[in-house]
Amino acid sequence: MNKTVLITGTSRGIGFETENFLSSKGYKTFGCGRSKVKKENYLSVDLSTKEGCEKLYNSAKKYLGHIDILINNAGTYAYSNIENADYETIDNMTKLNFYAPYYLSSLVIPDMKRQKWGRIVNIGSISGVVGEGGATLYSATKSMFLGFSKALALEVAKFGITVNTINPGWVETELSKNGIEESDLTYQDNIDVIPQKRFIMPIEIANLAYFLIQDEAKGLTGQSINLCAGLSCG
Ligand SMILES: NC(=O)c1ccc[n+]([C@@H]2O[C@H](COP(=O)([O-])OP(=O)(O)OC[C@H]3O[C@@H](n4cnc5c(N)ncnc54)[C@H](OP(=O)(O)O)[C@@H]3O)[C@@H](O)[C@H]2O)c1
Repeated sequence: MNKTVLITGTSRGIGFETENFLSSKGYKTFGCGRSKVKKENYLSVDLSTKEGCEKLYNSAKKYLGHIDILINNAGTYAYSNIENADYETIDNMTKLNFYAPYYLSSLVIPDMKRQKWGRIVNIGSISGVVGEGGATLYSATKSMFLGFSKALALEVAKFGITVNTINPGWVETELSKNGIEESDLTYQDNIDVIPQKRFIMPIEIANLAYFLIQDEAKGLTGQSINLCAGLSCG
């Protein structure tokens, strides 16, 4: 039987590419975003609410039958010095980048435990590993995955469930384009400090996610893997 995947944030970018890649490999997928997309395996929903997360979980379960794999991808970025952060921005980003993946994981784990098999892949960020000045809120929300992946990996290890985080550096998507426009740096300034002198392509994230959900990757758990064209190396 084909394995099933619930992946968040599939209306564009990394989530879109990853969902397409996994369905080309035979996985049955269900995705979401706030945008309206006419696909039977897609729900238009705001994940920064409890009700949104529950609606997504219920719709995915109805469509997929059961959930083998959760990919926590949806996220938002902001470039803003800490003194400019208003409470609402802190609240909104925390709800999407932190509460949603945590809560969705809590919803899928009971099924995975019953099945004695499961995979959770989180899309973190290199900014959660090394810190990104000017994006403290984003860095803080993404660093949560480092502890979360390790702690949850311990909790579910004996049930055949693995939990890992991919930390991308700059990836060619709308998020990076808008983020750079908001910042004091140009696209070229960013390229200059990346050892490989390029942004990561979404398909590279999709390939790593694909590896992490294989049976053969069962020994790899609780890890955070930096996919950053060398940005985090020094
Ligand atoms: N691009 C980079 O350079 C980069 C680097 C490191 C990490 N990442 C991480 O990778 C992940 C994907 O980023 P991306 O570059 O693909 O971003 P993107 O192009 O902006 O796509 C983000 C996806 O998340 C969905 N989303 C945003 N807010 C949502 C909400 N409130 N409820 C439901 N869905 C929502 C968006 O759909 P709608 O707009 O339709 O809601 C979209 O499908 C994020 O977690 C990001 O932090 C990206």
